[in-house]
Amino acid sequence: MELKRTKIVDIFDPQLVGEKVCVKGWVRTRRGNKNVQFVALNDGSTIKNIQIVINLEKFTEDFLKPITTGASLHVDGTLVASQGKGQSVEIQAEEIEIYGTADPEEYPLQKKGHTLEFLREKAHLRMRTNTFGAVFRIRHHLAFAIHKFFNERGFFYLHTPLITASDCEGAGDMFQVTTLNLGDLPKTEDGKTDYSQDFFGKTTSLTVSGQLEGELGATALGAIYTFGPTFRAENSNTPRHLAEFWMIEPEIAFYDINDNMDLAEDFIKFCVKYALDHCKDDLEFLNKMYDNSLIERLQSVIKEKFVRLTYTEGIEILKAANKKFEFPVDWGTDLQSEHERYLVEEHFKRPVILTDYPREIKAFYMKQNDDQKTVRAMDVLFPQIGEIIGGSEREADYDKLIAEIERRNIPMKDMWWYLETRKFGTVPHSGFGLGFERLVLFVTGMANIRDVIPFPRTPKNAEF
Ligand code: 4AD
Ligand code: MG
Repeated sequence: MELKRTKIVDIFDPQLVGEKVCVKGWVRTRRGNKNVQFVALNDGSTIKNIQIVINLEKFTEDFLKPITTGASLHVDGTLVASQGKGQSVEIQAEEIEIYGTADPEEYPLQKKGHTLEFLREKAHLRMRTNTFGAVFRIRHHLAFAIHKFFNERGFFYLHTPLITASDCEGAGDMFQVTTLNLGDLPKTEDGKTDYSQDFFGKTTSLTVSGQLEGELGATALGAIYTFGPTFRAENSNTPRHLAEFWMIEPEIAFYDINDNMDLAEDFIKFCVKYALDHCKDDLEFLNKMYDNSLIERLQSVIKEKFVRLTYTEGIEILKAANKKFEFPVDWGTDLQSEHERYLVEEHFKRPVILTDYPREIKAFYMKQNDDQKTVRAMDVLFPQIGEIIGGSEREADYDKLIAEIERRNIPMKDMWWYLETRKFGTVPHSGFGLGFERLVLFVTGMANIRDVIPFPRTPKNAEF
């Protein structure tokens, strides 16, 4: 009878020593001598490899020849306590089946220590490396933690549309969606593109945020969250921006900005703690290989109360700072990541929630403060990352919201359904958006956002 496969993550169980086991995976390395060969096998279930011990009395050199880095194997054998250093158990191979070979002349992941830039070009294979295996296992656990956090608190997971006719953030950097023939566009009488002939009968784009529909959900179900892809055609080639990224957007009825800040803080702390509790081996690997203050930084974020202060107070600190910034700061300007990181890393030395930003640099839907100059925005700023969360209390007053939409010349007819939340049973409510990849960046300690999403989409890059 065929043996049932054991995942490598489960093979290090002392109870299995002496048992016949079956493992399947990809060869990381093979080394040894004329009497015995050692294969390090990995199946992606853990960062750990299992050592396969191959006795040359049982297998010929010819048979072993194609077992090179990257080849895929099925091994049956006996799990034994290891005699060598570096592993507790190993498998004495009895039967080996080679599923597929990987020609050493062609397989790109030969030596250890490829640069992250090189591996980005090999994104179709990079998940087979220790680093990317660790990153994507952690990414999975964080996604799971997010659902767990909201589910346990009675939030409903709401699926908001990816194709939309409205621009939530009003930044205008949207990817258009059309089925029109771009080489032969139908025209209206006045020479413009005739979108009435397009698939949806109007111009549509990929969404930049699920918030507007999220507000419809919150003002019906009470508390919702979205977790889905969002798209931004901003031409910013930075280590923190993607054209396609995943966002989590909770939206909650009867929450003011303080409730919103408490939720954001609890939420991030929960996720970071979940990773520390469930991704120990992977985090230890990343801590050792890339950033030996990573685990310490994660632990300190859980322990410390986030600092809360207004944008205006933040600007004062930045202006008084004895530091030359690339971008000058003045009240009214948007903060650059160098400013955010100065506040977090150098001034306060812990995460910061900045509130009450100037109205002109924030979106139309934020609750207006009485000073007429600021809105009830809240950005959570993190070490290494800068802005990790952006959110606000929402303007719940119909007349004020209309006035703001008009002041900004936002096409009103596209917004009718959104305005009805304020027309029928309006309530104070708040929400925020967490950029999932920025959270994964923080937790893994990676430096470039392209290395925490399997197949990054950035300007001039849509390979794989
Ligand atoms: O601050 P943003 O633009 O806020 C919104 O979209 C609101 N509708 C959220 C809400 O209140 N429901 O984006 C939220 C977060 C940012 O803080 C950042 O973490 C992330 O999304 N983000 C990006 N992540 C990767 N690549 C990009 N181009 C990003 N743009 C924003
Ligand atoms: Mg923002």
